[in-house]
Amino acid sequence: SQTLPHTRIEAATPAFVAEAGAMLRAGQLVAFPTETVYGLGGDATNDHAVAAIFAAKGRPSFNPLIVHVAKIAEAETLVRIDARARALMAQFWPGPLTLVLPRAAGSPISLLASAGLDTIAIRLPAHDVARAVIRAAGRPIAAPSANRSGAVSPTTAAHVGESLGGRIGLILDGGPCRVGVESTVLDLSGPAPCLLRPGGITAEQIEAVLAQKLSRPTAHSAAPKSPGMLESHYAPSLAVRLNAATAANGEALLGFGPMACTRNLSEQGDLEEAAANLFAALRALDDPAFTAIAVAPIPENGLGCAINDRLRRAAAPRS
Ligand code: TXA
Ligand code: MG
Repeated sequence: SQTLPHTRIEAATPAFVAEAGAMLRAGQLVAFPTETVYGLGGDATNDHAVAAIFAAKGRPSFNPLIVHVAKIAEAETLVRIDARARALMAQFWPGPLTLVLPRAAGSPISLLASAGLDTIAIRLPAHDVARAVIRAAGRPIAAPSANRSGAVSPTTAAHVGESLGGRIGLILDGGPCRVGVESTVLDLSGPAPCLLRPGGITAEQIEAVLAQKLSRPTAHSAAPKSPGMLESHYAPSLAVRLNAATAANGEALLGFGPMACTRNLSEQGDLEEAAANLFAALRALDDPAFTAIAVAPIPENGLGCAINDRLRRAAAPRS
């Protein structure tokens, strides 16, 4: 185990998972691995714990958080599940799909976690450690990515330590995240299923189950629905330049497919491998030895949509 000021990083053994559960029940925050990225967990039914998540992340506004459960049955008392949601849960849970559903009557989820909306974003993660932590806590867990607001998401325990060290008590180390980009966020609260955030489950996979095309948020509708979704995000310190064929003088080149570059997301041109490597690569190239990070084109299909979404936000003008 490694000690930062006030923050312990511990292997996710049964003893530390049990301790994490006790801390969460006591209203404290614990970072833990999921198959997508590391999450910063707090009791989703406790306003104080949820407020502490916003404070630790330094989120400028109260964006709604994803609520994590360990079993489909646990979702029943929190949200209203229709036939579309049930079909998607059967196909993709546990896994990187978050569903935005109407809040159930009497749902114990903190209104702060859902930012006062009448919907709740809910997901059942595929990582054994994540589910073990939720079970140990015995309650639904709100968990945004375990990084300071606007920064690159963490895919290892060390990334979490770099970002949140000194701000939280415990980081459970479960190794690198398999998927590497966040869950897909699908809004099922209205008649037309709407893809709010591309992620680990592709639009094509969802459309095949629903036998229906997904709508996309317009700039106008997205603002109230998912505050913060259009801002600069996932940003390294260096500027990011997209669709680069070669590096300009002094730039690092993040490659895709067979090519000469500083670092390659996937030499084979494999989108799953590229997604898993994305955030660690952005962190590694975010080095003052370079003037900027140039990124080779990534195909806009399948997981490439999630990768390009994160890259466009990393390249967006900073406020
Ligand atoms: O993969 C993931 O989903 C990770 C891991 C830790 O599970 N979590 C994550 O949480 O990415 P966060 O808080 O960084 O992202 C939450 C996303 C935001 O885009 C937010 O706007 C949207 O979900 N969201 C949450 N609740 C919502 C709601 N009620 N309506 C619309 N969008 C919502
Ligand atoms: Mg995030």
